[in-house]
This record gives sequence, C-alpha cells and structure tokens, in this order.
Amino acid sequence: SIEEMEQRVQTIKNQLGNRLFILGHHYQKDEVYQFADAVGDSLQLAQIASQNREAEFIVFCGVHFMAETADILASPSQTVLLPDMRAGCSMADMANIEQTEQAWQQLTDLFGDTMLPLTYVNSTAAIKSFVGEHGGATVTSSNAASIVKWAFTQKERIVFLPDQHLGRNTAFDLGIPLNTMAVWDPISDELIFDGQLEDVKVILWKGHCSVHENFTVHNIKAIREQTPDMNIIVHPECTREVVALSDYAGSTKYIIETIEQAPAGSKWAIGTEMNLVKRIINQHPDKEIVSLNPFMCPCLTMNRIDLPHLLWALDSIIEGNPINTIDVSPEVSNGALKALNKMLEVK
Ligand code: 13P
Ligand code: SF4
Repeated sequence: SIEEMEQRVQTIKNQLGNRLFILGHHYQKDEVYQFADAVGDSLQLAQIASQNREAEFIVFCGVHFMAETADILASPSQTVLLPDMRAGCSMADMANIEQTEQAWQQLTDLFGDTMLPLTYVNSTAAIKSFVGEHGGATVTSSNAASIVKWAFTQKERIVFLPDQHLGRNTAFDLGIPLNTMAVWDPISDELIFDGQLEDVKVILWKGHCSVHENFTVHNIKAIREQTPDMNIIVHPECTREVVALSDYAGSTKYIIETIEQAPAGSKWAIGTEMNLVKRIINQHPDKEIVSLNPFMCPCLTMNRIDLPHLLWALDSIIEGNPINTIDVSPEVSNGALKALNKMLEVK
C-alpha cells in the first residue's frame, strides 16, 4: 500500500542519515516531493549538488539532464541515482551532439569566430561539454539574462541551445530586436533568417518544451475576457507571444515566490507544469488560482518518478547494489564542468 511504501522510504532515510541526499524539482509529484531533503528550480538544485560533499548517494527526483548535472557537479566519490531512467526531457532530446557539431561548422562558415555558444541546462552533458570547450556557459531560466549579457561581453553573437523560446524571451528582455534573431533548424540544417547576415545577433536552436507550448495566446485571451483582474504568470519556456501578453514570467522558483508574496484575494492564472500548479493552488486557499490552460499540463517524463520508483532506488542502495546510477564520462564531465562553473560564477 501507499502507506507501507511511504513508511519504508522514511525508514531508509532514517537509516542512511547524511549518507543519503534526496533532491526534488518543483515539478515532481507530491508523493515524491515530500521526501526531498532539498527542493528547487534547476539553478538551486545545481548549486546544492555542487555544495553537498557529505552524501554518498544523491537520489535525484527530476529528469535525466538534471541528474547528469548533479553527477558532474558532485565529487567523484558521490553516486547519483535517477529513480527511473525513462525520465528524460523532450526539449533536451531536440538537440544532440552530432547536430550541434554540424551546426557549429556551418555557422562558423557564415560568421567566423564571432559566436559564443550558450546552452540551457535542459540539454545533454555532451552538449554542455561542447559549449564549455568553446568558452561558453550553461544557463537556467533564473540566470539567463545575466549569462546572455555576459556572453555579449565575450563575442558579437550568441548561439542559444536548445530552447528557442527561453533564448528569444531573454534576448528580447535585454533589448535585442527580434529582427536580429535567426533560428537554426537542426532537421534541415538551415539558418532561418530574413535579412542581412551581418545583422544577426542571436542564433536560436529550433527546440521547445512540449509542455509549455500548450499555453497559448488563445488561453490568455479567454482569461482576460472572463476575469479581467486576473494576473497571468508563465514560465519563459512559453512562446514570445504568450510571455508578451502575460503579466509576469520567470523560473519555477520565481513563480512560487511571486504568488507567495501576493495579497490574499488576488487572482492568478499560471502557465507551467501541472504538479507545481496544483501544489501552489493547495498552498494558497486564500487566493484564486487556476492553470492558464484549463486542461492541466503535465510533464510526462517528470511524472515517471513516482513513489514505487523512489522506493526501488532507495532499496537498491540498502541492498548494496545501487540501480540507475548516472555516470558521465570524465572527458564529457570536464568540458561540461567548465560551462557549469562559468554559469555558477557569473552573478
Ligand atoms: P526551472 O529551472 O524554472 O525550475 O525549470 C526547469 C524546467 O525544466 C522547466 O520546464
Ligand atoms: Fe523538459 Fe518541458 Fe518537462 Fe521541463 S517541462 S523537463 S523542459 S519537457
């Protein structure tokens, strides 16, 4: 039963004490999230993973790229486990290292040595490594603006992988005109741009989050019509049009904090993953909160981490044979660490 599983998880946690550290992303189901020793957005989870040197086992309740990041930032003696290896990220899957190398080659033919690559942490370790080896950095939705600003102190242009929306929204907020942003299509190996190549400032990889693309301009218009005093807050993985029509946009941490600080009685429509929206609704009975898309939008891969999988991972540690360990090779890890450390250094 659920109670038995919960009890067993708690018993193992007590038994392992500081040898075990469970990290949980805000999109995790409550049945798992309740057991996390630390929760956060991607940036916080990366920072925590780089600071905890005590735990022998880090069980990462989140998706594969986050567990890889934790493994790269953890010390070699620490073991990172992902309770279900099928917990990927559809956005991270939209860019692989071969496509990245191919794109870089073609873009270098067009733009020479004027570009700095940046990658959203929602990408494979191999892509982070490529970016690190080319002097670039990773970004999260919490620090994208500072990192993009820094990038322009290094080079004339940036190449932003793999989320075109976060890249476009961030650059736009920094005052970079939309008509200087090109899109790289990794399927046709083409640069999509209407204008003079010398005007290109930002090259956006044509990837997106399949969860956040479900929040639409139509959803916003419907809310504005029905409830004009509703505040709309979205994650910057939503399209430019949606972010432009919203009142606020930011990382999961930003969304949580903004609603925490809002006055009782205020009304909110949230454009982000379902588990987080539900949790915020439950935590704020004094506010009127809905999902921006009335059909709640789950991230199916985040949801693969459930109580049975968490227990399975913990049991495997107790049995002395940890399953689903994440082992990024030292070569990839070295390059990726350069990109991650650059991000953690830039304020
Ligand atoms: P945050 O860094 O805002 O938590 O976002 C992670 C993510 O995958 C959003 O889809
Ligand atoms: Fe990836 Fe989107 Fe899920 Fe975040 S919500 S983990 S970007 S698929």
